[in-house]
Amino acid sequence: MVDLFESQWLASTVQLKNRIVMAPMTRTRTSEGDVPNELMAIYYGQRATAGLIVSEAVDVHPSSNGYAMTPGIYTDAQLQGWRLVTDEVHRKGGTIFSQIWHVGRMAHPLGMPDGEAPWGVTEQRAENSDVFAHGPDGKLGYMRAGTPRALTTDEVSALVGTFAQAFANARKAGFDGVEIHAANGYLFEQFMNSVLNTRTDRYGGGSVEDRTRFLMEVVDAAVRELGPGRVGVRLAPYGTFNDIPVDPLTEETLLYVSEQLGRRGVGYVHLVYELMPAGNMESAEFKKHHVDHAVLTKVRAAFPGAIIWAGGFTSRESAQAALDTGLADLIAFGRPFIGNPDLAERLKHGWPLTEADRSTYYTRRDEVGFTDFPAYSTGGAARRAV
Ligand SMILES: Cc1cc2nc3c(=O)[nH]c(=O)nc-3n(C[C@H](O)[C@H](O)[C@H](O)COP(=O)(O)O)c2cc1C
Repeated sequence: MVDLFESQWLASTVQLKNRIVMAPMTRTRTSEGDVPNELMAIYYGQRATAGLIVSEAVDVHPSSNGYAMTPGIYTDAQLQGWRLVTDEVHRKGGTIFSQIWHVGRMAHPLGMPDGEAPWGVTEQRAENSDVFAHGPDGKLGYMRAGTPRALTTDEVSALVGTFAQAFANARKAGFDGVEIHAANGYLFEQFMNSVLNTRTDRYGGGSVEDRTRFLMEVVDAAVRELGPGRVGVRLAPYGTFNDIPVDPLTEETLLYVSEQLGRRGVGYVHLVYELMPAGNMESAEFKKHHVDHAVLTKVRAAFPGAIIWAGGFTSRESAQAALDTGLADLIAFGRPFIGNPDLAERLKHGWPLTEADRSTYYTRRDEVGFTDFPAYSTGGAARRAV
């Protein structure tokens, strides 16, 4: 059995110093122009004892911005901002991948370039889910996702090129790799879902090959740019976040994607395994939702690379128990990394954990609830910010 503090290779390319992953977390702290900044460099640098940091979701294009103050990776200023982050993480001995996304229909015209409609797999709206944008009065706030327009076949193909550029930019900005965000109801999941994707072109229709073609073309672009070991894919099978319909073909899609990613030799599959976000971002409760072990056993057989599990891990014991099943290689922690920058050290030494105040998860521009949690050895135990 492997230990949480043993190192792990991704496709014989990237060596991670332990099995602890910092899960991707949107924190909405960018500067004007969706540009990463010094504060974000401090935040990620503080968390460099993780074996792998996966950054917050990063936009490939202005049309991908469903939430104000989330970072992009398509302007020079954004690349320079990311360079601050990656340099700081590397200076502290860490490894960082960039989580790359397009939100698809999870946007509002008020947050889109020139007020255009969000980009959708179809015109079906996410009626019950919120996005975050500047209202007509200029104030930031939550609003229901807008009605999307369906992308044309040529536009989907062009978007593959946009992702390829983002991967090249991630490399230029100093990231060690990329994670493609194909979970939680964003564009890739919108394409993969057999209920939502009623397109009749090569990116839709009835077959699993067609529904997953967009993802696979993007994965191929990432592998070409970075090599397979520097590419991971995040999936949330059975998730219903952002109005993703329950899909009777979930298992078929999951196993097909696992097998295809295995053929391409990608470094890891990151499964949002146990806790699914439900409701909108601000009020999101994390609903318990197990991915069946029988399904995971099949994923394991289909995919020879590393498997990350995320969701609900709060202790060394629970993480080690998950590793001991033999079905996962790495354990991701999300919320525990907010209040515990030195989470890996705390788990190693059995030091107490600090709980963060959820009202500071998003939407503030400052360091409160972001970079102001000290490491345990410098007084972290004294602060309890609940
Ligand atoms: C503040 C916050 C922001 C998040 N942002 C993202 C994101 O950008 N991309 C993503 O894939 N998941 C995101 N998630 C989900 C987490 O990666 C993780 O799956 C979830 O928090 C469950 O893990 P936990 O129980 O360890 O917190 C976010 C979660 C939180 C709490």
